[in-house]
Amino acid sequence: MSSDSAPAARDLIAFYLETGVDCALEDEPVDRLTARDRPVVAPAGASSVPARQPPTRAVAAAPRGAIAPPPEIAIESAREAARTAPSLDVLRTLLDSFEGCALKFTASRLVFADGNPQARLMFVGEAPGRDEDIEGLPFVGRSGQLLNRMIAAIGLKRGDVYIANVIPWRPPGNRTPTPQETQICLPFIRRQIELVNPDVLVTLGNPSTQTLLQTREGIMKTRGRWFDYDTGTRTIRAMATFHPAYLLRSPSYKRMAWLDLRAIAKALEGTALEQSTST
Ligand code: URA
Repeated sequence: MSSDSAPAARDLIAFYLETGVDCALEDEPVDRLTARDRPVVAPAGASSVPARQPPTRAVAAAPRGAIAPPPEIAIESAREAARTAPSLDVLRTLLDSFEGCALKFTASRLVFADGNPQARLMFVGEAPGRDEDIEGLPFVGRSGQLLNRMIAAIGLKRGDVYIANVIPWRPPGNRTPTPQETQICLPFIRRQIELVNPDVLVTLGNPSTQTLLQTREGIMKTRGRWFDYDTGTRTIRAMATFHPAYLLRSPSYKRMAWLDLRAIAKALEGTALEQSTST
């Protein structure tokens, strides 16, 4: 690098960091302008959905050779894989070998879950961040530390609850997952909830709430309210609350999160009582 180009390179790296790009996807730089990586333009009259597309510019973000199928095929195969998983261990294995979601190819590893698979309380967040991608466990960064304190506030430990995300791979640079990526991962998290079979489900933040509780309302309206959630085998109670990352940015909402946690603790006591009187 010449001394003239050094400031430009520094500016570029500073720009990348500011926009959330904090990891390299490949060891070697890729010249996206060469013919090999140019977007492929289908000839006039060709089918609009080829069975397996060659690397377009969007797909080229993944390591070469890794191509996710079209979303509708990926969703169907996710449903099929999730449906057939008889246990959490099998579900994890199926997810680990699932190639239908492009996020798999940019993440370092699968972030499946943490905590107790027999828990009565399950938390579901949006998607792993950088720390989670490194450790392979959900909620281990700053938000995770706050989540641990939220769990402790109702007298439980992290090991007493089960924690997962709607999306089990880190989106590059922590970008928002696309609706297609969410739909592809949805059958897996739904099956994961069914297999854990908690008494109470807590969705953390807007994306997880809207996806799992099938609402279009924002978190300010949904938080603190009880929803029915059909696991596939029974109906359980579900509550949305603020995402810990949001609480770190807006600590004044911790008071409301505390109210939500009180209601969650009370519901757990209630279901424990129901279970002890029915046996
Ligand atoms: N945010 C999430 O939604 N999930 C994590 O695992 C970490 C941060």
